[in-house]
Amino acid sequence: MTTGSHLSPPLFTAPEIQQRVDCLADDIARDYGPADFSVVSVLKGGFVFTADLIRALARRGVHPVVDFVTFSSYGASTVSSRNVTLEREFSLPVTGRRILLVDDILDSGLTLNAAKKLLYDRGALDVRVCVLLDKKARRGIPMTANYTGFHIDNVFVVGYGLDFDNRYRELPDLVALISDTPA
Ligand code: IMP
Ligand code: MG
Repeated sequence: MTTGSHLSPPLFTAPEIQQRVDCLADDIARDYGPADFSVVSVLKGGFVFTADLIRALARRGVHPVVDFVTFSSYGASTVSSRNVTLEREFSLPVTGRRILLVDDILDSGLTLNAAKKLLYDRGALDVRVCVLLDKKARRGIPMTANYTGFHIDNVFVVGYGLDFDNRYRELPDLVALISDTPA
């Protein structure tokens, strides 16, 4: 346990998450149909969600190409002035392809905005975004997802791939990390 903080009861339990992932897979399977497309998973936070989503797609007869990309963000205090840099490239071609970007959470929007721009710069035909969580109150720039699992308040969440300092990704439920010292 991280000193000075504790974990809340589940905001969303593993079965609730699975149900929602199934609904998203229904929507994606319906929208993409049999057309070929690539799922690009944004690491590291997107890995658990992507793993469940692509298997839910497989159960619906949908078999996309799967690739991964890593961004890192650093910089100034305000969320809208951070720099997002590409840390690990796509390994598969994107030119002329339909791309579904899959990430854990839409927060300031900077990461997915940068990812989308990069994919279009590389010649992608169409880029859509699928996120498990949307924290709308934190948005620094206009950015919406095409597919959203859950909308959440401005709380820091961990579990199901989401981390604090690279811990708690393994938790099956989504929980809030709550500071013991009042802000
Ligand atoms: P952005 O601010 O929309 O660019 O999101 C950047 C990244 O911050 C996300 O992909 C997550 O990995 C991470 N992040 C944002 N909010 C949370 C949170 O509540 N818990 C864990 N990670 C978060
Ligand atoms: Mg992330």
